[in-house]
Amino acid sequence: MRSRVLILGGTSDIGLALARTFAAEKYDVVLAARNLAQLQIIQADLQIRHQVEVSITYFEAADFDSHFDFYHALTIKPDVVICVFGHLGSQPRAELDWSACDEIITTNYTGAVSILNIVANDFANRKRGTIVGISSVAGDRGRQSNYIYGSAKAAFSVYLAGLRNRMFSKQVHVLTVKPGFVKTKMTEHLTTPALLTASPGQVAKDVFKAVRKKKDVLYTLGIWRLIMFIIRMITEGMFKRMKM
Ligand SMILES: NC(=O)c1ccc[n+]([C@@H]2O[C@H](COP(=O)([O-])OP(=O)(O)OC[C@H]3O[C@@H](n4cnc5c(N)ncnc54)[C@H](OP(=O)(O)O)[C@@H]3O)[C@@H](O)[C@H]2O)c1
Repeated sequence: MRSRVLILGGTSDIGLALARTFAAEKYDVVLAARNLAQLQIIQADLQIRHQVEVSITYFEAADFDSHFDFYHALTIKPDVVICVFGHLGSQPRAELDWSACDEIITTNYTGAVSILNIVANDFANRKRGTIVGISSVAGDRGRQSNYIYGSAKAAFSVYLAGLRNRMFSKQVHVLTVKPGFVKTKMTEHLTTPALLTASPGQVAKDVFKAVRKKKDVLYTLGIWRLIMFIIRMITEGMFKRMKM
């Protein structure tokens, strides 16, 4: 039987690239997202290109109460679960409007924790599986331009580190992915330096390799590991004076 990947956030640009990469490697794919019409188009495309089984299902990260039934309705349980949904939001708006702030925290952190707790318990019982969380380099240091988003991603990275620690003895692999800039609809309003900006396809290939090699933490592009190391080394005394 073929391996199966569940992509939570199947309509995201990185999620779509991940679906293509895993399908090309002959994984069956389950795509979960809010927009079922868009998922149907992706489903047909993947099936034609890769001749694997592709199923689609509705998933809303903020609807915590639905997560248990969502996961347990999957008739065949996945071998790999990738949590890729996320929301950049607007930092200035989030500073003024709690519902905008809450949406960022819920989508990038509490929604992910709610569904991954359920997945983790299943994988722990089965003593197998891989959980991939798409966090961000934004979680490595708080900056004035996006610290609400960054703090939710920081919390998600710490959650994944703890989950990895818990799951090690259960033979479950947990991978934290920290992308730098990626050219997607999330960042289309931003001008990012070309040399530091990955395509969704590059990110997906890096993730696939890291799953295969059972890596713990992946920076993609790799140069971001060095950049974030340097940024973390700057003292708070200096950092607070910088416009970041
Ligand atoms: N692009 C970057 O530069 C970058 C850098 C670092 C990390 N990341 C992370 O990479 C991941 C993918 O981002 P992307 O760039 O591919 O973004 P994207 O194309 O804008 O996709 C974001 C996805 O999240 C989904 N989503 C938002 N709120 C949701 C909710 N409440 N329930 C379910 N799904 C929800 C959206 O679904 P709808 O279509 O239904 O809204 C959409 O599919 C995110 O976690 C992001 O934070 C991105």
